[in-house]
Amino acid sequence: MRIGISNDHSAVELKNSIVKHLQDKGYEVVNFGTDSNEPFDYPEAASVLCKAIQNSRVDLGIAICGTGVGISIACNKHKGIRACCCSEATSARLTREHNNANVICFGARIISNELAYDIVDTFINTPFSNGERHIRRINKISEIENNE
Ligand code: RB5
Repeated sequence: MRIGISNDHSAVELKNSIVKHLQDKGYEVVNFGTDSNEPFDYPEAASVLCKAIQNSRVDLGIAICGTGVGISIACNKHKGIRACCCSEATSARLTREHNNANVICFGARIISNELAYDIVDTFINTPFSNGERHIRRINKISEIENNE
């Protein structure tokens, strides 16, 4: 599985520690975020990651800004992207099982590195439940996108 990760200037250190955490576990990680502390706007960090998911260059994405909120809003503007902003692992599990989320977002100014590892590991290791009711609801999200 290839994992994409992206971040704005507020999340460089957390991004680097997550990349190492995942590489140590044997994952291929593609870094789309900034490596500088100079301002880098979170919508740009979101777009480069989401395009890589849309093009199947990576399978799942991790998107980090200061709060996780701005970058999750930006990710969810991209067609076919279902991004969840969360600060605990239960939401990360449920958004994979129920929403087939393909991007997980959180805030570098909100959660610790250890909690971020827990969220990321849970997100990556949880499959979509494939339940009929969940597929029906996700299809309705796609209809909203297609009717915009
Ligand atoms: C950048 O300072 C900050 O606004 C951004 O990282 C994020 O928290 C926005 O939602």
